[in-house]
Amino acid sequence: MRILVTGAAGFIGSAFVRRVLREHPADEVVAYDALTYAGNPANLDEVRGDPRFRFAQGDIADAATVDPLVAGCDAVVNFAAETHVDRSLLDPEAFARANVVGVMTLLQAARQHGKRLLQVSTDEVYGDVEPGHASVELDPLLPRSPYAAAKAGGELMCRAYHVSYDVDVVITRGCNTIGPRQYPEKLVPLFVTNALQDLPLPVYGDGRQERDWLFVDDHAAAIDLVLREGRSGEAYNVGAGAERPNLDVVRGILGRLGKPESLVVHVPDRPGHDRRYALSSAKIRQELGWSPARTFEQTLAETVDWYVANPGWWEAIRERDERFRDYYERQYGWRLATAGSGAGASGAAK
Ligand code: DAU
Repeated sequence: MRILVTGAAGFIGSAFVRRVLREHPADEVVAYDALTYAGNPANLDEVRGDPRFRFAQGDIADAATVDPLVAGCDAVVNFAAETHVDRSLLDPEAFARANVVGVMTLLQAARQHGKRLLQVSTDEVYGDVEPGHASVELDPLLPRSPYAAAKAGGELMCRAYHVSYDVDVVITRGCNTIGPRQYPEKLVPLFVTNALQDLPLPVYGDGRQERDWLFVDDHAAAIDLVLREGRSGEAYNVGAGAERPNLDVVRGILGRLGKPESLVVHVPDRPGHDRRYALSSAKIRQELGWSPARTFEQTLAETVDWYVANPGWWEAIRERDERFRDYYERQYGWRLATAGSGAGASGAAK
């Protein structure tokens, strides 16, 4: 089949493209990406010469560009999104456009041309999860950040198009994903690259918030399976079952790098910070036979080692892309100054 992969130059999207070309020799990929700050052409370098791969630049909310691409493919997998919670608190509108209007534009084209659409969503649509509970697919969607609300909006639009117009949609709700090529704004790549430069690691609040951590290739494998075998109209949780408090993850990073815990600085918390996400993945495990190939320890080690081995990839962003520096200053400048780390706003933004 020929698959239109939107958001293909991003972190999980590019891992999915590599997987499809590697695992499915008869498949072709049309990669589509707006190349915003987090879409990185270098993420697709490995596959650029493959005759089964082609790239087009554009925005998923641009119907005129999207429509013929959808018409020419057998299925669409949508990774395109604004993904960072902290940025959604600074600029919520961009999130509504990409994560709701963009999804609707894809749905409209899928409806027009009778194609399957897989919407890549997130465990954050469930909101904060009480200790002891693991979210199941029929739990209510109770998002709490502009990012999570926009992702929930996109999902609900998928549901509406399925019910109202019989569009063939499937949804995956993934947990925190780490691995090579993740933009260094997320906890793990930010902290690994800060630590490599002996910069402070800004832990929000007490650092006892819990997340479930999955390796990017394991996440891509789950999406691939749901695309081919998932039941139309259904959502599938994709969780590793590797819940850890943030501070344990941070200690794991420092241990792997041989860096001191004195780099940790507790800074003012993210507003509305969800304390805990936890997923039951029984549905995808039992129905489709998916399970992650790696333990948490392997996932973290493989991730940390990639950033150590590939400084050119992240230095191009951290040292040569002003958009990273501007964001870092805006997000962490005052936080680090408040925490009195001594690093100061400009010192930490290098
Ligand atoms: O759960 C899936 C979601 O995981 C995805 O849908 C999102 O796109 C992705 O960004 C991620 O959301 P989180 O907010 O959980 O990820 P983040 O890496 O930003 O933060 C992970 C935890 O670490 C969270 O409790 C906030 C904390 N944190 C994060 C940063 C960036 C800090 O303490 N300090 C930081 O500087």
